[in-house]
Amino acid sequence: MPVAISSWAQQLKPSPTLEVKAVADGLRAKGVPVLDLGIGEMNPEVRVPDLIKEAMAEALHADATHYTPQNGDPELISAISEDLERFGLEYSDEQIVICPGPKDAIFKVALTVLNPEAHRRRLVMFTPGYESFENIPMLVTGQPPVILPTDKDFLPDPNQLDDLLKSDDSIAAVVLNSPNNPTGAVYQTPLLRELADVLARHEEVAVISDECYRTIYYDDIPYASIATMLPEQTFVVSGMSKEVSGTGLRLGFVAGPKEHLAALGVVEGNASSCVNLPTQRGYAKFLQADADFSMRHAIREQLRVRRDHLLEHFKAAAPDAIWKRPNGAFYFFPNMDAYIGRKAPDGRVIKDDIDLAKHILESRHVVVTPGTMFQRPGHVRFAFAKSLDIIEEAMKNLGEALAQLET
Ligand SMILES: Cc1ncc(COP(=O)(O)O)c(C=O)c1O
Repeated sequence: MPVAISSWAQQLKPSPTLEVKAVADGLRAKGVPVLDLGIGEMNPEVRVPDLIKEAMAEALHADATHYTPQNGDPELISAISEDLERFGLEYSDEQIVICPGPKDAIFKVALTVLNPEAHRRRLVMFTPGYESFENIPMLVTGQPPVILPTDKDFLPDPNQLDDLLKSDDSIAAVVLNSPNNPTGAVYQTPLLRELADVLARHEEVAVISDECYRTIYYDDIPYASIATMLPEQTFVVSGMSKEVSGTGLRLGFVAGPKEHLAALGVVEGNASSCVNLPTQRGYAKFLQADADFSMRHAIREQLRVRRDHLLEHFKAAAPDAIWKRPNGAFYFFPNMDAYIGRKAPDGRVIKDDIDLAKHILESRHVVVTPGTMFQRPGHVRFAFAKSLDIIEEAMKNLGEALAQLET
């Protein structure tokens, strides 16, 4: 009998955007240059600061290649603790665990707070939302997340959350993500306060605050976190991926209540042993050197310029789209419903956002991500951490692709 594939692995949903990816791969294989506003990465347009690279190289040459304690290298943990204070968050060293990337950090929180045998084991996610929030609870408990759609500004409704928590005693955790992927929405203090008031009435419910984009707020909007309001329930997750453009460096961290973080450290030690030490050294040196946020603000400014450039050109390219300016992260998520139902030059009707993304890619070689991927059909996501030239050309091509569609 052949080796079976586990039910855990089988139940994961294949990405609904595989069709779009297949078209992009096909074009690339033919040597056609594609303009990729699909992938959520800043590399190579915004690079890992030299200081990090130098500290990593130095660590390697000093043979700092051994295991660290399972919670992480003490120097980095202290540097994160001091840095969190600059965000107004008080965490001692034993309340912090280093993991191999933000996604892994979320997974480890889920393994620590979701009990597969308990009735109370489900995770709530707001949509549109990051796709891993769908798969991580499936891997941990076999249960899909409970979905709460956000409003037209992509903000969660505290009353809706209250109703759910009052009526459904299977909820064990809620994940919040601000600044948000895919929408660029940010949750400001008054909204977080309302959400915290609701969640405080359900002290058995954990809050996973995904703050991967915590340094990328635009328009003078200040950083805000539910962790300042609900420290006993909240697990803050962030890391190097988006903050320093280090997606491939694989370093994330969790900060949270002491007892839970002790348990999470054991989970981390058993699953991953530790994160590679040169990367930990690099991030420690960076955080120590960036106490005034000058390097992180410089990265944010590069992204702001790109956001403004994209929006300026998008207006002309997609006059019938409905959109909101993103206030954080590096994503733009317009409603493209007006273009759905229109006819492509070959007579095919664009029946949904996946068809629309395929048309834009096939006809003018621009990669965008369909909103279906984030549970909000009718939209597409543009990742704008790209060069200004690529953004401009992509918007010109987008305009041409949309102009081909007949009503
Ligand atoms: C909101 C959010 N959380 C977590 C992650 C995971 O980051 P990584 O894949 O680098 O671990 C991402 C990546 O896009 C993200 O957008």
